[in-house]
Amino acid sequence: MCGIVGAVAQRNIVPVLIEGLRRLEYRGYDSCGVAVLANGEPKRARSVARVADLDDQVRETRLEGATGIAHTRWATHGAPVTDNAHPIFSRNELALVHNGIIENYESLREMLRGKGYEFVSQTDTEVIAHLVHSLYRGDLFAAVREATAQLHGAYAIAVLHKNQPHTVVGARQGSPLVVGLGEGENFLASDALALAGSTDRFIFLEEGDVCELTLEKVRVFDRDGNPADREVRQVAAYGGAVELGPYRHFMQKEIFEQPRAITDTIPQADSFDASLFGENAQKAFSEIDSLLILACGTSYYSGLTAKYWLESVAKIPTQVEIASEYRYRDSVPNPKALVVVISQSGETADTLAALKHAQSLGHKHTLSVCNVGTSAMVRLTELSFLTHAGREIGVASTKAFTTQLVALFVLAMTLGKMRGHVSAAQEADYIRQLRHLPAALNSVLALEPQIIAWSEEFSRKENALFLGRGLHYPIALEGALKLKEISYIHAEAYPAGELKHGPLALVTEAMPVVTVAPNDALLEKLKSNIQEVRARGGQLYVFADADTKIVNDEGIHVIRMPEHYGLLSPILHVVPLQLLAYHTACSRGTDVDKPRNLAKSVTVE
Ligand code: F6R
Repeated sequence: MCGIVGAVAQRNIVPVLIEGLRRLEYRGYDSCGVAVLANGEPKRARSVARVADLDDQVRETRLEGATGIAHTRWATHGAPVTDNAHPIFSRNELALVHNGIIENYESLREMLRGKGYEFVSQTDTEVIAHLVHSLYRGDLFAAVREATAQLHGAYAIAVLHKNQPHTVVGARQGSPLVVGLGEGENFLASDALALAGSTDRFIFLEEGDVCELTLEKVRVFDRDGNPADREVRQVAAYGGAVELGPYRHFMQKEIFEQPRAITDTIPQADSFDASLFGENAQKAFSEIDSLLILACGTSYYSGLTAKYWLESVAKIPTQVEIASEYRYRDSVPNPKALVVVISQSGETADTLAALKHAQSLGHKHTLSVCNVGTSAMVRLTELSFLTHAGREIGVASTKAFTTQLVALFVLAMTLGKMRGHVSAAQEADYIRQLRHLPAALNSVLALEPQIIAWSEEFSRKENALFLGRGLHYPIALEGALKLKEISYIHAEAYPAGELKHGPLALVTEAMPVVTVAPNDALLEKLKSNIQEVRARGGQLYVFADADTKIVNDEGIHVIRMPEHYGLLSPILHVVPLQLLAYHTACSRGTDVDKPRNLAKSVTVE
């Protein structure tokens, strides 16, 4: 989703801005641009192609300047055409970039038209540019503070004005923005990652903050217009660029990184202790009577899987809800419920808003399971558990999902132990199983050649059904999501027991039915569901455990998983589904790491 980079320096800053955009490319975008003050005038280059094209343009036109802002745009208001690409100018005096959506842009546009402003784009952003310009009386910082007070919606912005050649002003509300502190130069970005190599000292702006960057100084004012003293944090982890190595795509690399990511996420300690979730966790966990899990997309599916663990092991009632639904419906708050938000990025707008909504309803205890320690979600929750997946570049989430599952399993075990449902012997056994997971995953990854053979058949299909039962129903959902988002094959997942309540009508010889068939209590039921499909001529593709007696037969294709893994089995069973989606997408020639219309970090509603 949109990315922002800005800088005030005493050197040509364009290469830093372009490099920053490159680092934000993984978030997804459909146009990009950069503006600098060149000889006292705002000058820009914009492209509806990739950042590499923008780089060629700035070299050819020798665009140079020491104060600048840059942007990758993921279209919301207005098509991805050059006129809508940021930076947006106001009367050739002010340039502005924006991430987010302004809800009251129509009324503001009418008001600004009345003042003689002409609109040349279809963006909501142009309203902010003209609004700041209309309020400018020699102090850009003051004009932005006045303008943001009139905006409804979500935004992160960066602005420059020709009359203040060494100033960039930023503001955030609902979309992330960080300040990077340099020596005699300062930076702004929507993600600290964009500034790797330029600085490792950051201020993570809070909701409603407005900041002013000059060469030697950074000033921050809070939403009430008072000077705010924000903590400066050293973030060293944003080192060099992520390399693809021997892999064809980042998604493939990230699938194969899962044994390492899981090793890094499994706690070192030999016991499931509340302190793994934060200082106050012991007390908080002893005060709760249920869980309310809020998340979106793949992270929601990890929550659905966790519900099975939390209710079967910890015996604690658990509700899992899609964040974008929860935030807008009337719900009955239970202040004794622990609110758990799950997110790879920690910046997903819907999940953040759902968390704030839960807090506003009186939920006291909150926990984030997140892959980014400096994210807004981690900062907003009382407790947190960080997954250590490392940077995930592919838009389709893989290693973030399996590490979330590890975190949530540890949560279920910790609560189960505290509530007297996990004995010392069981605890030791589950810790042993967790430690063995990376090796078990390596054996699953070795199934890749068999999955490639299946993917060639899948690539010719336009529809697919995924079936699972119990713990593995969310895994079927995740398998279907992976297939549709990167191969564009329409895929639906059902709990297998639902088959004859509707979806069986879809089953013909043309319909591949992927079945997750671990050797658990529901296996016999699942075998009956398999027969129901076979009887209608459906083609079955079964991921069966080593010890199930499902064998290759006419219309039944079986890949056998290396070992049966009990409660942790979902973490293994999702991996072949990731590989199936990946190789099917490769056969269809789609842009695997950047599927159409999707963004990595969904920072708008
Ligand atoms: C799918 C995918 C998305 C994300 C969702 C939430 O592969 O990646 O469905 O899971 O947008 O994102 P996070 O986890 O960053 O909150």
